[in-house]
Amino acid sequence: MAHRGSSHDNPEHTLGAYERAIAEGADGLECDVRLTADRHLVCVHDRRVNRTSDGRGVVSALELAQLEGMDWGSWKVAHAGDAEQPDRHHAKILTLRQLIRSALASERKPDLVIETKHPTRYAGEVERRLVDVLAEFDLLRPAPDKPVVRVMSFSSMAIQRIARLAPHLQRVQLIEVSTSPLFRDGLPPNVAIVGPWLGIIRRNPEFVARQHHYGHQVHVWTVDAEPDIELCLRLGVDAIISNRPGLARQMVDDA
Ligand code: G3P
Ligand code: CA
Repeated sequence: MAHRGSSHDNPEHTLGAYERAIAEGADGLECDVRLTADRHLVCVHDRRVNRTSDGRGVVSALELAQLEGMDWGSWKVAHAGDAEQPDRHHAKILTLRQLIRSALASERKPDLVIETKHPTRYAGEVERRLVDVLAEFDLLRPAPDKPVVRVMSFSSMAIQRIARLAPHLQRVQLIEVSTSPLFRDGLPPNVAIVGPWLGIIRRNPEFVARQHHYGHQVHVWTVDAEPDIELCLRLGVDAIISNRPGLARQMVDDA
């Protein structure tokens, strides 16, 4: 699964990063969604736009038109010192709708793996808007010609909301520590997939077998280094979420 697109080498969460991920053979596209001031869902990780654009401010305080006026690509060129890739300049903000259209247009129909950010602050609005957008594309139920949609969150409340609003969507409970009170040996109700931080399975490789014993899938993030991809393959995890989907694809296919 391509984490924020093929984001090791491309500006994260841009259309270019996702198109590259699809070309590199990703089975799924991970993205973070946030609400703008005028209530559009956009694909942005941070609360502020400062790190990944040439603008300043908080995503939820800005309107989509303001975000569209910003350059979401040049920061990566400057960061990578790679001035030879002009296509990365002036990359635009990506809305969730645009990402879905791009996934639907591709032959591979990659899974859509959507993480809701700060679901508590907006008292469920992120999930409601997300379900509305998915409904527009008829993506609330699995169908053979449609991408699989998984909704992920660190917030079990957000996951439970999704379970109520759209019971046929797959849900992933993200965890950063294996001792999370959310978690222990089981998962919250209505969840069959756990998404641990890579550090958890590095320290406790037996975590994966235990989850499989309980019938849960294990989707690990964010796995970029070859030895870590090898570890995931050895342990038989169910999904590798990586900023380097091309490398992961190759190692999965060679395994
Ligand atoms: O795929 C889950 C992972 O993306 C969670 O962490 O901070 O990269 O959104 P973060
Ligand atoms: Ca994420």
